Amino acid sequence: MKHATTFSAATFVVLLGGAAAQAADCPVDVESAFDLEEAQVVALYDCMKDTMVTGYSKQGNKVAQNYRNWTISSTRPAVAGPHGNRLLQTFANPIAAEQYLKFEEQGVKMPAGSVLAKESITISKKKKAARIGPLFLMTKLAAGGAPETDDWLYGGIQPNGKPMKFKQSFCHDCHIGWADQDSLAYPLEEVRVSSN
Ligand code: HEC
Repeated sequence: MKHATTFSAATFVVLLGGAAAQAADCPVDVESAFDLEEAQVVALYDCMKDTMVTGYSKQGNKVAQNYRNWTISSTRPAVAGPHGNRLLQTFANPIAAEQYLKFEEQGVKMPAGSVLAKESITISKKKKAARIGPLFLMTKLAAGGAPETDDWLYGGIQPNGKPMKFKQSFCHDCHIGWADQDSLAYPLEEVRVSSN
């Protein structure tokens, strides 16, 4: 009988998993991501990072399964404002990494096959908890592959592993603001990992 109880308790944890455990285990006492100190961000990320990949990978998405092996572009997640005031951290695949980490401001042209994957964490003011946000993606297609978005394909994976649905223009209308940087906005300067 004792054994059966233990088993069902374990199953319960597995089934409810992610969100519930996370709210209890990674609490925050601030109202917005902007109020977090650097050390708090690092601790929060440490607490959430494994749950994040597990969630993004749930439906077998290849990028979700691989991006943590790519080149990280910042020393820690940071909040820039756009992307819903979330804490953001971008990874560049092997084709993108060299150029992306130069953070050049003029005449940038990313090679086809470049992929940028950006993790996000939302601070829920109401729940006083950190929640996993989407994994945002930008993929550079071959020349002419998507003329209206400078050959970028925008994508997103929800924390449950399912693809996000949105219009390409929703993302590109903002990213086009960085036209000289091939529509890339780059992480905040103070957290950039430079390849130079
Ligand atoms: C209101 C403006 C805005 C919108 C809309 C927006 N982004 Fe971004 N995006 C940014 C900014 C600013 C950054 C850089 C901030 C950071 O990473 O710290 C960024 C960074 C990124 C990056 C990392 C590569 C880079 O630009 O340095 C990806 C990937 C990304 N966004 C995907 C998306 C996707 C997918 C959508 C649509 C669902 C989207 N973005 C919508 C402003 C925007």
